[in-house]
Amino acid sequence: MSTLFIKNGTVISATGATAMDVLVDGETIVALYVPGSDLASTAEGGADRVIDADGKYVIPGGVDVHTHMELPFGGTFASDTFETGTRAAAWGGTTTIVDFAVQSHGRQVRECLDEWMGKAEGECAIDYGFHLIVGEVNEASLKEMSTLVDEGISSFKLFMAYPGVFYSDDGQVLRAMQNASDSGGLIMMHAENGIAIDVLAEQAVNRGETDPVYHGRVRREELESEATHRAIKLAKVGAAPLYIVHLSASEALEEVARARNAGANVFAETCPQYLYLNLEDHLGAPGFDGAKYVCSTPLRSKHEHHHADLWKGLRTDDLSVVSTDHCPFCFKDQKELGRDDFRAIPNGIGGVEHRLDLIYQGVVQGEIGLARWVELCATTPARMFGLYPRKGVIQPGSDADIVLYDPNATWSISVDNHHMNMDYSAYEGFEVQGKVDTVISRGRVIVENDNYHGSKGDGRYLRRGLCEYLM
Ligand code: URP
Ligand code: ZN
Ligand code: ZN
Repeated sequence: MSTLFIKNGTVISATGATAMDVLVDGETIVALYVPGSDLASTAEGGADRVIDADGKYVIPGGVDVHTHMELPFGGTFASDTFETGTRAAAWGGTTTIVDFAVQSHGRQVRECLDEWMGKAEGECAIDYGFHLIVGEVNEASLKEMSTLVDEGISSFKLFMAYPGVFYSDDGQVLRAMQNASDSGGLIMMHAENGIAIDVLAEQAVNRGETDPVYHGRVRREELESEATHRAIKLAKVGAAPLYIVHLSASEALEEVARARNAGANVFAETCPQYLYLNLEDHLGAPGFDGAKYVCSTPLRSKHEHHHADLWKGLRTDDLSVVSTDHCPFCFKDQKELGRDDFRAIPNGIGGVEHRLDLIYQGVVQGEIGLARWVELCATTPARMFGLYPRKGVIQPGSDADIVLYDPNATWSISVDNHHMNMDYSAYEGFEVQGKVDTVISRGRVIVENDNYHGSKGDGRYLRRGLCEYLM
């Protein structure tokens, strides 16, 4: 086992920033030292390798709990494989992902899960776990859900959108929630009224409104907030905790805030695209370029207060997590499938590489503090999905997933410098202050000096525990 000593850095945790040296033994953090102390000097003297983190933040590796490598969608597949997507995540300082195994309609959960485990095994650059998308709530899948919680798959995504594909009706949602209530599982909800959206989408296309921007116009914010409200009420009836995924609209956030103020076990995440991109400039970009920004829930109007409200939600903890919902599709041949009809554009934006940087801009702009940045991107996601304290914190006993972050570097995001398997960047030209400098995954330095030293298969499968916030 080799030892690694990280000195002169400022360790950021969910509770604050402290000058600390960190000792790693093999794959594990074993001690933190007061810099300059005798104990620190002795530890440094005995270390196999010393990294000087002077001027850098030393933060826990990012935990992205919402990614979709290889997701089948609309007749194509998300363009990042587990190999390319986890490598890109590593470049961006994310050392753990929780992806989604998909139970497709008409198939058994176990068979699908084995298939997804097979896709990821031996391919990942960083550690990974799975949630399960329950494509069909029935007696068999409900039985499997209970078993899976004990096996380390403790969260289940349901869809109130996409009728005929992933959609569950209210009865199925309630039954899954009752099941989660009994087993300790966490229901993750895609909260949009898909039945109403499909009506509006058909009417739009019949009027000749086929451009990408109509994807956002028909997926109205009322249909996000209505579904969020309904999910919250069903969770109350089912006595189950609830986690709303990819929340984008102010009114939906109000529903979550109201439930939380009433003491309900309701949580929500948002994603960088909902904090920085908008319906008019991006989804409504000239020509067919808006297709690059088609995702669901959709980007919201810049003429309303969504961005400001979401940042506020991140401060107040009505939004507890920032994930990416990384679901990349190339423009050529993939987004292009919907040139004549926005309904055929595969839904999703790639961003697994840029979450830490994009949310750090919130620190630069005074929206959140340093500790909250770490809490949103690493600590709370780990706690929410049963990975803490193994992940999400720098403390003795935790996995040595550590990022050295340079707050003074400046650069701009581009398809020319990203590592995701996409032929465009949703954040092209976006100026960033701060940069991931060094990435350590379970004690191995995998990104350093703008070079990648990891390899596929380094990442291990994570059996997860239960959501910590329910105990
Ligand atoms: O547009 C999105 N979000 N694509 C991925 C699937 C989902 O609903 O999360
Ligand atoms: Zn979704
Ligand atoms: Zn998703």
